[in-house]
Amino acid sequence: MEEIKIELLYKRLKTEILPEESRRLCEAAVSAAKRAYAPYSQFHVGAAVLLHNGTIVEGNNQENMAFPSGLCAERTALFYAQSQYPQLAVEAVAIAALSHGVQTTDPVYPCGACRQVMLESQKRAGKPVRVIMGGTQKIQIVEHIGDLLPLAFQEF
Ligand code: THU
Repeated sequence: MEEIKIELLYKRLKTEILPEESRRLCEAAVSAAKRAYAPYSQFHVGAAVLLHNGTIVEGNNQENMAFPSGLCAERTALFYAQSQYPQLAVEAVAIAALSHGVQTTDPVYPCGACRQVMLESQKRAGKPVRVIMGGTQKIQIVEHIGDLLPLAFQEF
């Protein structure tokens, strides 16, 4: 038997020192979060997807009275981006959230299903997709979705 340890690499930085392009993407995620439809959880999530030509597509969580019918912010944004611009590679995704109207101080991490969908976007892009998880105090960044979803599902 072999025991294998997986390492993941992420960057943690203070919000103030975020580079300009990433800052703009985080701001887009916050503004998207403000338009979320989340009457059941009151947790408003926003995602902003940066495409290869510089276009930013925003999305947010869309809840439904029949709970499983709702969709997370990341998948709303990515599916919209890919339905509108199928030829444009996804370069980065920023995520932010407001809890009861106030942006979280700590970064928000994407759920497992969204990680799986992001992995597919990365596969389509053919190069690493940066994920920026934003809070008001702290930001975390991974440069490759694999760092958020090791041992991901794949067909052989
Ligand atoms: N949510 C997202 O939008 N993204 C995630 O990655 C995890 C959770 C939403 C779903 C639901 O509307 C609310 O957050 C509370 O779970």
